[in-house]
Amino acid sequence: MAKLGMGVLGVGTMGRQHAHNIRSLIPEAKLIAVADADLKRAKQVAAELEIEYACNSIEALVERKDIQAIVIVTPAKFHGAAMRVCAQAGKDIFCEKPFTLTVEEADELLDVTAKAGVRVQVGHVRRYDPPNVKAKKRIEAGEIGDPVIFKSLARDPAPPPVGYMASGVNGMFFQDSTVHEFDLGRWLMNDEIAEIHAYGAVLVFPEIAQFNDIDTALLNMKFSRGTLGAVENYMQSGYGYDIRTEIVGSKGTIIMGYLQQTAEILLTAGGARTDVVDHFLVRFADGYLNEMRDFVQTILADREPEVDAFDGRQAVAVAAAAERSYREGRAVAVQNRTRASRAVLEQNQVSSR
Ligand SMILES: NC(=O)c1ccc[n+]([C@@H]2O[C@H](COP(=O)([O-])OP(=O)(O)OC[C@H]3O[C@@H](n4cnc5c(N)ncnc54)[C@H](O)[C@@H]3O)[C@@H](O)[C@H]2O)c1
Repeated sequence: MAKLGMGVLGVGTMGRQHAHNIRSLIPEAKLIAVADADLKRAKQVAAELEIEYACNSIEALVERKDIQAIVIVTPAKFHGAAMRVCAQAGKDIFCEKPFTLTVEEADELLDVTAKAGVRVQVGHVRRYDPPNVKAKKRIEAGEIGDPVIFKSLARDPAPPPVGYMASGVNGMFFQDSTVHEFDLGRWLMNDEIAEIHAYGAVLVFPEIAQFNDIDTALLNMKFSRGTLGAVENYMQSGYGYDIRTEIVGSKGTIIMGYLQQTAEILLTAGGARTDVVDHFLVRFADGYLNEMRDFVQTILADREPEVDAFDGRQAVAVAAAAERSYREGRAVAVQNRTRASRAVLEQNQVSSR
């Protein structure tokens, strides 16, 4: 069986996990090389995974003829530049979320990658989380009637280190974190988010204010066919990594997500105690593996990715609208495009209700 030769660019927290999955858990793939701007880091991960080649740039990675697909896991600011190099070299791409930091760059990359004829999958992992996959099938089978409300909450245990924001290379809160919920909402409701009203605040992590960012957000949204959505995103639960979603339908509701990681409960006179999911790498371990396996199989089978550059672009557009809504204190229309025409839809004036 011909294996897919792969390289991973950026082997920090997330990239190291993807590299490990490709190397050890996906037999149809062969991890040829890892690259990181920090060459020491690249070499260390290559040694851990027992692969021979490590380098420090996308340019060096694409030179390898035995690499057909590249997994981009750098901070978001560098996604676009890496995708352009991959497109020019004819390499298929898996790019972590957010696809880009601006709608303009996302639009440009849709064109660049399409013209180059390379495939792009975006790392919206929620679509590969088993409870969500099951829910999507139930919704499609009509088990809850017509979906009416999308509700989602995402709470991180604690804010990232200040350096994460200070570096200026990662997306702000809506781009970096809430973007997961935007993609999930689009996918589960099988619709575009048309309008969004975001409230944001700095309530628990005062250091974030100097970066003009926020740690807490509540967002209401309207989908293009009139259904509704509500999202909570919070940086400091204090108890764990808490991700829950509900789809309320005309004939029933599906609840996805869980708090307890290990099937063990300690019962004492003091009460009952369980653990709580503490990290995204734990909560979405299956999702990260499933999305990469699907990417590998998609490229080998010469299919179009399930979650592609267009999906990445639409989620970026919702994040941009959320940012603007928060800053301007009003509901904002999302700059959506249609998949077929790829034409920017006419901006509807959002009335100030
Ligand atoms: N899907 C998810 O659930 C999820 C979770 C975490 C992170 N992410 C995404 O993964 C990406 C990376 O996040 P992370 O948490 O692993 O960050 P990180 O800071 O831990 O790692 C980033 C790595 O990229 C390297 N790097 C920086 N600039 C580079 C460049 N130009 N070329 C090559 N390497 C470069 C850094 O040296 C570092 O090792 C981001 O887009 C982030 O949003 C996704």
